Amino acid sequence: MRVNVTVNGSAEAVDDVWEGESLLYMLRERMGLPGSKNACEQGECGSCTVYLDGVPACACLVAAGQVEGRDVRTVEGLAEGPPGDEWLDPVQEAFAETGAVQCGFCTPGLIVQSHDLIERNPAPTDAEIREALAGNLCRCTGYEKILDAVRLAAERKAAAT
Ligand code: FES
Ligand code: FES
Repeated sequence: MRVNVTVNGSAEAVDDVWEGESLLYMLRERMGLPGSKNACEQGECGSCTVYLDGVPACACLVAAGQVEGRDVRTVEGLAEGPPGDEWLDPVQEAFAETGAVQCGFCTPGLIVQSHDLIERNPAPTDAEIREALAGNLCRCTGYEKILDAVRLAAERKAAAT
């Protein structure tokens, strides 16, 4: 079947989608967007988190057919500079700078979830950060660097506004 969907601001028509496949599979395997990671495929780890109509969702739990006519934004879509530019969202920059990225498997989901948190709550407390990221599992960092990254991104976003 064909799925018509807006991905990272671009209207797309994706052909040959199987009714049972996930949004995550469609993004990674049919649309050339490997940023969202496939770690558990069961909604347990958060590494596949994308925005779906502006709300974070596990792309592995969403059937591709369910996104017909909807809006998806992936971790790739957070870097909104001109084509060829290396501009990153402050959340992406902060993760890279603080050492919050080790193997990187959890990183895209954590970045989308952190981005959403800071949009909703520009000055989150540590408890609020931990709560917001509770569904995103990381087996490398011990989470402290991730907290550092979210604090830094929130500070920079606040300073920029
Ligand atoms: S791959 Fe989707 S939650 Fe783990
Ligand atoms: S950096 Fe490896 S799982 Fe988080």
